[in-house]
Amino acid sequence: MFAGMSPRIAFIGAGRLAQSLAPVLAEQGESLTAIASRDPAAAQRLADQLPGVHALPAADCLAVADIVFLSTPDDAIAALTASLPWRRGQAAVHCSGATGLDALDAARRAGAMVGGFHPLQIFSDPRTARERLKGSVVAIETPDAPLGEQLHRLAGRLGLRPLALGGGQRAAYHAAANIAASGVLAMLSEAVSLFEQLGLAPDQALAALMPLSRGALDAATQRGLAGAIAGPVARGDARVLAAHLQVMASRGEDALQLYRWLCQRQLDLLADSGRPDTAARAALGALLARPAVGESEHSASAGKT
Ligand SMILES: NC(=O)c1ccc[n+]([C@@H]2O[C@H](COP(=O)([O-])OP(=O)(O)OC[C@H]3O[C@@H](n4cnc5c(N)ncnc54)[C@H](OP(=O)(O)O)[C@@H]3O)[C@@H](O)[C@H]2O)c1
Repeated sequence: MFAGMSPRIAFIGAGRLAQSLAPVLAEQGESLTAIASRDPAAAQRLADQLPGVHALPAADCLAVADIVFLSTPDDAIAALTASLPWRRGQAAVHCSGATGLDALDAARRAGAMVGGFHPLQIFSDPRTARERLKGSVVAIETPDAPLGEQLHRLAGRLGLRPLALGGGQRAAYHAAANIAASGVLAMLSEAVSLFEQLGLAPDQALAALMPLSRGALDAATQRGLAGAIAGPVARGDARVLAAHLQVMASRGEDALQLYRWLCQRQLDLLADSGRPDTAARAALGALLARPAVGESEHSASAGKT
C-alpha cells in the first residue's frame, strides 16, 4: 500500500484547516486531486487556487484519492464517514484533536486504513498558515503502519513535528491543548478584569497585559517554565503575596482559590531551582495554606444550620 507512489490526496471540508494545509501540500509537490464541501462554491474557491485540483462531490473525491482528509467540523466526521463509499487500501484521516478513531469505523469496516492528523495550532487565516505550521506539532494516530509512514512524511512536508498518539490518549492530549490555548486566555481574563477595577476599558487592559504575557512565553521558550518565573513567588516576597491574596479574596472564593493554586504551582515549579530560599519558601507555603481574612468566619457560618 502506497509503496513507491506519491499518494493522491483529497480534502472533504474546505474550511480554515483545509485552506491552510492544501495550498502548502500543493506547493510542496504533493499530488492533490480534489476538494469537496457541502457548499460546492466553497470547494470551488479553494480548488481554483490549486492547479489541477477539482471541486467534486464528497463521494467522487474517494474515487480519485488514496488519502482522504476529513476536514469537517468534529461533529460531522462519523456521519460523513458512514455516508461514503470507502475501498480497501484507501485511507480516511480526520483532523480533529478530540475525536477518537472510532468515528472512522465505517471506513475501517469497508477495508480502508484510518488515522488522525491533528495540527496543534490555531488556523484562522490561511495567509498566516505557513508561519503557524512551521515547527508546530501534529498529533498522528493510526493503527496502520503504511498510513503512519505517509502521515509522518506529510507532516515533514508541512513543516510540522509529528507526535505519535496511542489509542486512549486523546482526552489527555486535547485537555492539555485546551489549557495551553484557551485556558491561558481564560486566566488572562482574570487579569483583564483586575485592570478594569483600576478603570481601564477591557481592550485597553488586554493591550496593556499582552506584551507582558508574550514576554513570559518568550522567556519560557528560551529558559523553560521554572526559568521564566518572575514576581513575588520567585522572590519570596511574602508581604506582597499577602496583599495579592487579600485583593483576590475580595473578588470571591473562586478568584482566591485560582490565585492560590497558581502561586502554589509556581512554588512547585521552582522546587529545584533554589528560588526562593528555604525560609521564604516555608513562609509562602504557610501563607498560601492560611485562610484569608474573613474566610474562616465565612466557612464557619456556612457550616451552621
Ligand atoms: N481551524 C483550526 O485551527 C484547526 C486546527 C486543528 C485542527 N482542526 C480540525 O480541523 C477540522 C476542520 O476544522 P475547520 O476549523 O477547518 O472548520 P471550518 O472552518 O468550520 O470548516 C469546516 C468545513 O467543513 C465543511 N463541512 C461541514 N460539514 C460537512 C459535511 N457533512 N460534508 C462536507 N463538508 C462539510 C464546511 O462546509 P460548509 O460551509 O459548506 O458547511 C466547511 O467548509 C476539525 O476537525 C477541527 O477540529 C482545526
